[in-house]
Amino acid sequence: MKVLVLGGGGREHALAWRLARGASVTRVYVTPGNPGMATVAECIALENYTPEEYLGLAERLGVDVTVVGPEAPLVAGVVDLFRQCGKPIVGPTQAAANLEGSKVFAKELMNEAGIPTARYFIAESEPEALAALARFEYPVVLKADGLAAGKGVIVAKTRNEAMDGITALFSGQFGEAGQTVVIEDFLPGREVSFIVLTDGETVLPLAPTQDHKAVHDNDQGPNTGGMGAFCSDKILTAAETQEVLNRVIYPAVRAMAERGTPFTGFLYAGLMMTDQGIRVLEFNARLGDPECQTLMHRLHSDWGAVLFRAAVGKLAGVSLSWDAAPSVCVVAAAHGYPGPMRIGDAITGVRDAEAGGAVVFQAGTRMNHGVLETAGGRVLGVTASGVDLRAAMNRAYLGMEQIQFDGKHFRRDIGAKGLG
Ligand code: AMP
Ligand code: GLY
Repeated sequence: MKVLVLGGGGREHALAWRLARGASVTRVYVTPGNPGMATVAECIALENYTPEEYLGLAERLGVDVTVVGPEAPLVAGVVDLFRQCGKPIVGPTQAAANLEGSKVFAKELMNEAGIPTARYFIAESEPEALAALARFEYPVVLKADGLAAGKGVIVAKTRNEAMDGITALFSGQFGEAGQTVVIEDFLPGREVSFIVLTDGETVLPLAPTQDHKAVHDNDQGPNTGGMGAFCSDKILTAAETQEVLNRVIYPAVRAMAERGTPFTGFLYAGLMMTDQGIRVLEFNARLGDPECQTLMHRLHSDWGAVLFRAAVGKLAGVSLSWDAAPSVCVVAAAHGYPGPMRIGDAITGVRDAEAGGAVVFQAGTRMNHGVLETAGGRVLGVTASGVDLRAAMNRAYLGMEQIQFDGKHFRRDIGAKGLG
């Protein structure tokens, strides 16, 4: 079986790495991919990365199934086009991807389906948002409505911070994202990324993971796309997992089907486990990154076969097997990230890091005259497992010490929350 992966980050590197190890997969292609994947996949560049170009590539290569990594191709309608042409693909349609593309849509769906989430207000203008602040306590959470690469969320600790945040969101600092802003209660608790694979009917839960969104240790500083993650069966009890399925995942999948826009692909529920119970912070229409790196590291199953069954609506009866050992991924970010960052710094130590038993999934990297260098905010993820979480952390951090590039920064507490 030949598989095509769309994307070029750490998530896609991890997908390609796992796919290549499956018995039923003969060939893995990734577009655009990155230099780290060259040993497990063939990377192919396209001109404009449009749905039509992706389809043309899949047909030219004769791939059996395509899997979409990031949200942009989903929102552009790549799944709709592949389906129209009878090409198996894993991901949601444009309409279903709205669950991630619009926080307002997600809130409305949660309301309708009775899915627990934070109390919120939708503001369509700056004056409306400022006036609505009176109904909230601090900290308060402000979210741009559209896609903002995980950075369109501001946790404001004071009224002044909230006012500045509202101005920033409406002035277009997050691109087009800021026409509508969701204001919601801040929920204290334990964050969990709960991701399932679904064909629209059958739901196959992946292992629970925990992301670390803030840039600095102890969750300080601005939010990023994720500075590291861990994956362990201890993140949720069996009863909690069942409750998440019953109260969040099944109602969401049912509500999407009832709307005539069934959700297929990876449904990611960003959860907060609060003293009052489970609350949904957000839905994503794709695998999380870096969560995916820890998931792929722990997964045993023949991933290509599973993805093919998801793409053709035959997930019923499929189960996944996971390594008992927990896994940890620590992200190395470029100078300046998540603000304006510098690229073009030479990277060394990838081989040495892997010699110590970690896997380095590359993300924002490129080859320049034979030199590996930084090319994006999240440069790479060092992923490792161990007999317990502590051992996995030690191995990942050992690998991280080997990696060198100017401006490199990473969190030193990835996984620490799971040790307690
Ligand atoms: P989101 O993109 O909606 O998941 O928000 C990004 C991050 O902001 C989340 O992963 C949380 O760490 C934080 N966050 C979002 N909403 C809330 C909330 N209501 N209460 C506390 N933290 C939140
Ligand atoms: N790591 C969070 C995300 O992928 O949205």
